[in-house]
Amino acid sequence: MKKIFFLPISLLFVSLFLNAQIAVTNLLTENETNPVSIDAASPRFSWQLTSSKKNVLQTAYECKVMDGKNVVWKTGKIASQQSVMIPYAGTALQSGKQYTWQVKVWDNYGAASAWSNAAVFNMGLLSAGDWKAKWIEADFAEDSVNRPAQYFRKLFSLNKKIKNATAYITAHGMYEAQINGKRVGDYYLTPGWTSYNHRLQYQQYDVTAMMSNGENAVGIVAGTGWYRGYLAWDNNKNIYGKKTGILFQLQIEYSDGTTQTIVSDESWKSSYGAIRYSEIYNGETYDAREEKKDWATVKFNDADWYNVTIGAADKANLTATYNEPIKKHEQFKPIKIFTTAKGELVADFGQNLVGWVQLKVKGNKGDKITLHHTEVLDKAGNFYTENLRVAKQQTTYILKGGEEEFFEPHFTFQGFRYIKVEGFAGQLKPENITAVALYSDMKPTGTFTSSNTLINQLQHNIQWGQKGNFLDVPTDCPQRDERLGWTGDAQAFSRTATFNFGVNNFFSKWMKDLAYDQQPNGSVPYVVPNVLGAGAGGSAGWADAATIIPWNVYLAYGDKQILKDQYSSMKAWVGYMEKASKNYLWNTGFHFGDWLFYRPFDDNDGRSAVTDKYFIAQCFFAYSTQLLLNTATVLGKTEDVTYYTNLLQKVKDAFVKEYVTANGRLVSGTQTAYVLALHFDMLPESFRKPTSEKLADNIKNYGNHLTTGFLGTPYICHVLSRFGYTDIAYKLLLQETYPSWLYPVKMGATTIWERWDGIKPDSTFQVPSMNSFNHYAYGAIGDWMYRVMVGLDTYEDGPGYKHIKIQPHIGGGFTHASASLQTYYGTLSSGWKTEAGKIILDVEIPANTTATVYVPAANAEAITENGTALSSLKDITVTGKENDFVILKIGSGKYHFEVMK
Ligand code: BGC
Repeated sequence: MKKIFFLPISLLFVSLFLNAQIAVTNLLTENETNPVSIDAASPRFSWQLTSSKKNVLQTAYECKVMDGKNVVWKTGKIASQQSVMIPYAGTALQSGKQYTWQVKVWDNYGAASAWSNAAVFNMGLLSAGDWKAKWIEADFAEDSVNRPAQYFRKLFSLNKKIKNATAYITAHGMYEAQINGKRVGDYYLTPGWTSYNHRLQYQQYDVTAMMSNGENAVGIVAGTGWYRGYLAWDNNKNIYGKKTGILFQLQIEYSDGTTQTIVSDESWKSSYGAIRYSEIYNGETYDAREEKKDWATVKFNDADWYNVTIGAADKANLTATYNEPIKKHEQFKPIKIFTTAKGELVADFGQNLVGWVQLKVKGNKGDKITLHHTEVLDKAGNFYTENLRVAKQQTTYILKGGEEEFFEPHFTFQGFRYIKVEGFAGQLKPENITAVALYSDMKPTGTFTSSNTLINQLQHNIQWGQKGNFLDVPTDCPQRDERLGWTGDAQAFSRTATFNFGVNNFFSKWMKDLAYDQQPNGSVPYVVPNVLGAGAGGSAGWADAATIIPWNVYLAYGDKQILKDQYSSMKAWVGYMEKASKNYLWNTGFHFGDWLFYRPFDDNDGRSAVTDKYFIAQCFFAYSTQLLLNTATVLGKTEDVTYYTNLLQKVKDAFVKEYVTANGRLVSGTQTAYVLALHFDMLPESFRKPTSEKLADNIKNYGNHLTTGFLGTPYICHVLSRFGYTDIAYKLLLQETYPSWLYPVKMGATTIWERWDGIKPDSTFQVPSMNSFNHYAYGAIGDWMYRVMVGLDTYEDGPGYKHIKIQPHIGGGFTHASASLQTYYGTLSSGWKTEAGKIILDVEIPANTTATVYVPAANAEAITENGTALSSLKDITVTGKENDFVILKIGSGKYHFEVMK
């Protein structure tokens, strides 16, 4: 009987599913899957459509948000194509609550989906008043030289059945928390780095499963971190404060509906323990003999612990964590353990990475093992650390003796490929050491591959440059005494970054800090968070991170919020330049210029590619004004549109008057000068083509080498392609000798180097004062590889890949190049192949988007899709012909084009 009843129901489901044919998946709240800590009053919802059909567009949606069984928002059926970032508009969301939401959609075939699976989001603590916890600090005199980590603990008892328990934690310094002896969460280096003077992120954890009935213990250890550690130079420390402290609040909801809150307050105890020292640049010292075994459990006796004092800090600056926290990622075993000529015991992990090394060791009490970290070996194969400047990058572990011991650092990170091991008794084996990569937990979104293995290694290096330097803030480098949020580096790399990983929230968070750290006169600091002082700002190409990054994030994700949030910051930066200029010419102040441009030693021929710094400043003045104008247009600020349209013209006129001769010659004849003038449209139309010819000649004159620094490099290949010189762009890309992208690859690089010649052909180094081997800026070529070479792009009229542009540029002797990107709409991919007599182009377009595809073909008759002539396919519209491309309009689906040559 049972079976007979069961069958028809399952059939019913199958037939419902087949009829529906459209489903909704990948629900995102504020760009995250089931985020745990939202403090936006109107979180924004996105979803993806999946369908077996082609050309699918959403025609309507219905969304509902639930608080348990109560509906707090129901949109009803809304006729709209929008499936990305729909703001919540129901009754006010409440602090600490969990909500679920679901969506259903209708498509252009008249089909309706079922309700999606429910997605979940948790609200954070929305106002300062929701914090019942007090800031606490240790109440003992600390060793002011080493400043060991401080330990805090507290017991509490729970006597009823628990429904859920949520912990909210943050620190002055860095913290790790335990409940009943177990680590809370899998985030590292928390609370991350923000402009602490203005705002501090807290983390929110679901700790329900960690609670036990009866007595419980919470323990938190706080280290020095960015808050009071050494940052920048000249023994600069205590930038945000002198004392570490913690803030903890645990909210418990019992099954009977009652609640209880456990908070940090005067009832806690404090002490010190095994973490004797930790500094970001210098590493950590852990003395296992000082371990307080089970210090975060109930059974521990804290009779000799100290009291705590209450810190004065207020809570108005607390904010939920918006970006993805730092997590552990790849692990590496040494590929080689060896002794150098100098007699050093060295392990090579085969990849330059950022994180730390885990140590497993058995030995005697008091044995001391020190791991030194570095990126490269010198010419003679010895351990080389000079380029770390004063950063020690060293972790020391002192054994307690007995069983096998395990150590990994807590409040520091290193940039390294090699470690030198001191004090290891016996033979060091691969099982003793594991390198762990730590970086912000951004979703991997992009893949790029081609028929050239060197270029594939370059892509690998670009991605690892990003992994190593996207550590809560975008850093310039992760190893020497710097590791700061250099604005110029970040803006140069920002568009490339959007291809490799989901960086919307990462940049949105950092841009807020940029705005906070901006000076009242609009000047933008060299580094964000600004630890260099109020005067350290206003450099062209660095400060323009204020306009360039929001615009790039908007293009990549279609997220208007970042434009709204940053609008006054963008305006303030342009206002700063406007004020600093005379007759719209900005030629004052300090500028880094085209940082690290090509400059040969003993330059008798004047081959150094020096670009006038004020010429550069004027170009960025225009570019930022243009981006502000674009933003004003998107946001519908009509008065500003008029104002900045006029300003832009005046800035360009002033440029031409000052830097361009009547015959169209530029005062600086460098690649960067040509590139900026062309990319930012600084020149009158009639001068553009001749200038592009000069750029092409210049490159030939340098034997197809680039000479650009940080500011010219991101755009050089784009400009070449725009003016019909993709062949030269390919020559630059494929150049294997210095200066070029592939020179470091040929020299064995596994990340992007700071300098084109970090290691010289004779294996000697560039100057140690400025020679990082993990500096992502020059990785900005990735943007051209994705957008031009493979040809995956978005139109500005449908940013975030709502309206996709696919235009492959075949060349450079490649027989294949392909890329994929996880967009908010779903998977987008494109790949081309050349085969005898034909070109193959495979494309995947996500549902609810449209694409304009430029197929490299002489005419539409030469093209087939999946074996069928285009003329017999009604889903594909041929809209025109441009140069060597036939232009098609297509909707979602997978397409296999072949072009007969
Ligand atoms: C950093 C750079 C930064 C530069 C400013 C350096 O020390 O490492 O990448 O942009 O200073 O010119």
